[in-house]
Amino acid sequence: MTSTRATDLGAMSALPSEAGSFLARYAEETGMEQTAASARIREALDAIAADGTYRHRPDELRHGARMAWRNANRCIGRLFWNRMHVFDERGASSETEVFEALLRHLAFATNGGEIRPAITILPPAGEGRATFRIWNHQLLRYAGYERPDGIVGDPASVRFTKVCERLGWRGEGTPFDLLPLVVQHGNKTPRLFDIPRSHALEVPLTHPDRDLFGDFPAKWYAVPVISDMLLEIGGVRYPAAPFNGWYMGTEIGSRNLGDEARYDLLPLIAANLGLDTSSNATLWKDRALLELNAAVLHSYRRAGVAIVDHHTAAQQFGVFERNEEKAGRAVTGRWSWLIPPMSPSATAVFHKSYDDRIESPQFSHQEAPY
Ligand code: ARG
Repeated sequence: MTSTRATDLGAMSALPSEAGSFLARYAEETGMEQTAASARIREALDAIAADGTYRHRPDELRHGARMAWRNANRCIGRLFWNRMHVFDERGASSETEVFEALLRHLAFATNGGEIRPAITILPPAGEGRATFRIWNHQLLRYAGYERPDGIVGDPASVRFTKVCERLGWRGEGTPFDLLPLVVQHGNKTPRLFDIPRSHALEVPLTHPDRDLFGDFPAKWYAVPVISDMLLEIGGVRYPAAPFNGWYMGTEIGSRNLGDEARYDLLPLIAANLGLDTSSNATLWKDRALLELNAAVLHSYRRAGVAIVDHHTAAQQFGVFERNEEKAGRAVTGRWSWLIPPMSPSATAVFHKSYDDRIESPQFSHQEAPY
């Protein structure tokens, strides 16, 4: 416990100023009266002096979480930051309650395919109670198994899949086994929960007019819910705060299914399309990528599941940039992440540069608990 205490003490020294600047910002952005704003800041500083922390009011939590999205330098989808639905689940007190909250999140976010951005905020650190960690990278993700003749499933999940197996889980062994939710309370052994099929909408992938996949049962899930990042608002840390938007097609078509270190489907697709793979210069990879991305957008649309193509997403990001300018705020961003991994130069983001400075509130990476 010594290292935890050292971190808490370290955070405590910065907490009053982080709380003060967040609450001042919050007051300004929400048009609070000056007297009410000052009183609220005093109240928070008193709470910090007395208890070592302060508690966000529900609307501060909601606005703070949305600000964290607005500040997410790697996200091209930030136009919609102010419409994220915030589930205040700070009262969750057991792994089962967390699991139930996560199922509510999935149902709300999935919404029969009309995806709604949402975040579920679990108890913060620093209140003297044990917090939760969700060990999964995303609530929905496919397992990866090392087999004698290669990896079955998602290579990015191999290590986590082994962790689940060590905790007693056994997958079916298909390329698309949904991993269980792994929820840890304090430093107890984590608990595993299977996600009911009803809460894991998936989209079978087909191309509008070609057979790209042959016998391979290509599919992907509808909602990406990042569940391993830390949310920090006004100096308060929320180690479990899973959030989602909808997919941009290239995340699936270029990266998840296309990357050599992921499902690596380009050689299969090239073969099924009869492409000449004898030389890099035939651009067979580019042709295969294009058709794979077309299949992803076509399939989600046909299934009635919200998805955005990278051209539209980049245009929406342009609107976000103009909105922020009008609001007198500087947009921060990480160029290497904002540019889409297909035809980047055909989007405006490619031709601009971005300041990758970190603003609070923010989402950040934290050490894996396993
Ligand atoms: N790139 C990740 C994936 O392919 C998801 C990251 C979040 N994406 C989003 N559209 N909100 O699973």
